[in-house]
Amino acid sequence: MGKNLIGFYDSGVGGLSVLKVALNKIKNKNFVFFGDTLRMPYGARSAEEIRDYTIEAMGFFNDLGVDLSIIACNTATSYGLKKSNGTYDYPIIGVVKPGSENAVERTKNRKVALVATKSCVESGVYEKALREIDPTVELRSVYCPALTLAVESGDFEEEYVDGIVKKYIDEFGDYDFDTMILGCTHYPIVENSFKRILKREGKKVLMVDPAYQTVLDAMDILDINENEVEYKNRKIDFYITGDIKKFKYTMEKIVDLSSFEVNFHNVKIKDLEKYKK
Ligand code: DGL
Repeated sequence: MGKNLIGFYDSGVGGLSVLKVALNKIKNKNFVFFGDTLRMPYGARSAEEIRDYTIEAMGFFNDLGVDLSIIACNTATSYGLKKSNGTYDYPIIGVVKPGSENAVERTKNRKVALVATKSCVESGVYEKALREIDPTVELRSVYCPALTLAVESGDFEEEYVDGIVKKYIDEFGDYDFDTMILGCTHYPIVENSFKRILKREGKKVLMVDPAYQTVLDAMDILDINENEVEYKNRKIDFYITGDIKKFKYTMEKIVDLSSFEVNFHNVKIKDLEKYKK
């Protein structure tokens, strides 16, 4: 058993969209968050790099004594989840399976759209997960690198983000999907932009943010009840490989942590090397 901690790992601020869901539902744990901002975007990295970085982060969490880690990054889940589970004994879950289950539950016409990073799309992990649940589901994917970077930089000006989102939605052409998976944890942060553009184009689409099912799965594994009594002075420790100031700037636009004791720590890449497998 760990130290009553849950770990969240992402390349950057995207993982906050998962942490935010957890903060609403899990009241009796402290949280640690690892943001590998120095090496993001993962979406432009190779399978080997992403796998190695994920193993390092999971090793780091293991040393911190987490009860469970959530790989709050679709790209890291794609390449790093399997090896992480084969390497460490504590529970480690990703976002792809929960997101796929949710999408299959929601779609009526079996046509699903995925927006994700380039390396996540290329991994084919969502096709595989969806087809395992329902082989009749059709999936088309578009990768959105400019959107990941816009969110990471904290530039949420409506017109600017809408312009980026519209360009990517246009890439789906006349594909008449009824369900869209926000398959990069950076994207739920600008979910309203997706909703606005789809509505403007007259499309009725259900959005899937894999975070919800992922957090429910974590609660299930740890036997956590939503009605637990809230801990006093709950703590969140952030471990960031890049510039803490930049991370904080964007973080404060995404999530209100004023009721938590929050600490930031810088992690050096060379100190992660000991976790390499
Ligand atoms: N937030 C990450 C994901 O869910 C990846 C962003 C990136 O570093 O490219 O895939």
